Amino acid sequence: MRITLLFSALLLAGPAAAQDIEALKLDTREKALPVLPKVVKMMQDTVADKGVAGAIPVCKDKAPALLKARAEELGWKMRRVSLKTRNPERGTPDAWETAQLTAFDLRAAAGEPASALEVGEVMTQADGTKMFRYMRAIPVGDVCLSCHGDPANIAPDLKAELDKSYPQDHATGYAKGQIRGALTIERPL
Ligand code: HEC
Repeated sequence: MRITLLFSALLLAGPAAAQDIEALKLDTREKALPVLPKVVKMMQDTVADKGVAGAIPVCKDKAPALLKARAEELGWKMRRVSLKTRNPERGTPDAWETAQLTAFDLRAAAGEPASALEVGEVMTQADGTKMFRYMRAIPVGDVCLSCHGDPANIAPDLKAELDKSYPQDHATGYAKGQIRGALTIERPL
């Protein structure tokens, strides 16, 4: 009897956990993802208004500030990471994030659209509390290319400005549709 009960509990735990993850992904998507198109729109408007060099502060200050503000509202942590960073202090992924970004590149190469790539996992931390980690790929769009595209096509004055602030810039050479990096979220459970 005991064994049967234990067995049923185990059977229930499997599918329930998978459902939990789907529900958490959905909820995280709904609450966090609207920030991403806002940044793209702000970038497009600022480039149109002030030119490309004038739009540097959008990626440098506005995007991180928007993410931080939304994360604080939600009580989560949110930032951008990349395998090829422009700002290594802010954008360097940890081991789990590096593995997910590498998997995103493989999934994109196998035909999945970059804009739909996501992953979510429940993790137990060292202190025993649980956390949901989520990542969503950030694809390269047309407006990104002037600062993250082929270095040969980056305007000389802009290049000089980027070189000055980012002597270790790895974030060029991207083509439209590639994965620039990801939004990464830590959500306490
Ligand atoms: C006007 C130039 C410019 C444009 C256009 C631009 N970026 Fe950036 N991007 C930067 C700068 C500067 C940084 C470094 C930010 C910092 O100091 O944290 C950066 C950093 C990033 C990062 C953080 C990881 C890293 O490399 O340090 C991501 C992700 C990113 N950009 C994505 C995009 C996307 C997606 C677009 C198009 C929607 C875009 N950028 C358009 C200038 C630009």
